[in-house]
Amino acid sequence: MKSLVLSAAAVLGAASALPAPQSDPIRILPSWWKFDIIALRGPGCPDFNTTAVYSTRPTYGSNTVDGSEIYYWHFAYPHMKASVGRDASETSTWCETTLKYSELKDREGKELSGDYRLKLHKNGTEVLATYDLEEGVTAKWKFTYYPEDMDEVVDEITVNGPYNTSAYGEIVQSPVRKNSERWALPKCGAGTIKYKTQLKVTAKKQGAKGTVSSEAVEYKGEKGLYGVQQGVSYDWEKCAK
Ligand SMILES: *[C@@H]1O[C@H](CO)[C@@H](O)[C@H](O)[C@H]1NC(C)=O
Ligand SMILES: *[C@@H]1O[C@H](CO)[C@@H](O)[C@H](O)[C@H]1NC(C)=O
Ligand SMILES: *[C@@H]1O[C@H](CO)[C@@H](O)[C@H](O)[C@H]1NC(C)=O
Repeated sequence: MKSLVLSAAAVLGAASALPAPQSDPIRILPSWWKFDIIALRGPGCPDFNTTAVYSTRPTYGSNTVDGSEIYYWHFAYPHMKASVGRDASETSTWCETTLKYSELKDREGKELSGDYRLKLHKNGTEVLATYDLEEGVTAKWKFTYYPEDMDEVVDEITVNGPYNTSAYGEIVQSPVRKNSERWALPKCGAGTIKYKTQLKVTAKKQGAKGTVSSEAVEYKGEKGLYGVQQGVSYDWEKCAK
């Protein structure tokens, strides 16, 4: 059942199989790495530590190969959804996630290493979701990151109705933030990352309908929502030996 949940290994294998760019840009990245969810809190993620296929979970990584070194890792939240309609003209939900980041010596993942320092917020935040919003309905995403030794960093994404996506979900990205809003983990090779995800759907007119959710899926007879996916962006710097 769990095979549906892409592992870091599977995803990175696929990423490194991408065609090489024309020139030879300098890449700065460890041999391998992973993110584990170590804590969840809030109505948008009531399922920490379940064995359900469509649980709150890490999904996949993506990256540029042209030297811009923009990396994302995505985290799926099947319980993160909100609707307005006849009964409510505002609905919201949220989840607070704590991730553990680990640099690995190789694909096997048995040994840790610490040659690189992870830097967060390279390119803001992206979110993949499905939207069915009538005129006058607005969906607002707010992503608050809590660096260890810096003020909170907030990204916001607003989607205005009328807006109706395909079943596969739409990727929207927050505006790119200034470099000063990036931060590095205190230590090379490992650390924790904490952020809060908030979704609010509001209708200007009572009765206008709107839903933000994710793709409906079925795997081995189990039906569920795939999960809205948050893409957390990052890159690395080499640590002094
Ligand atoms: C659930 O959490 C406990 C305690 O942290 C851990 O020992 C166990 O392996 C976890 N189970 C799953 C399915 O992650
Ligand atoms: C969006 O598309 C779905 C499926 O085609 C349809 O049922 C729904 O009414 C549409 N919503 C809007 C706001 O147009
Ligand atoms: C970086 O973010 C901007 C939006 O702010 C977006 O247009 C661009 O596609 C993003 N880059 C990548 C590689 O996702």
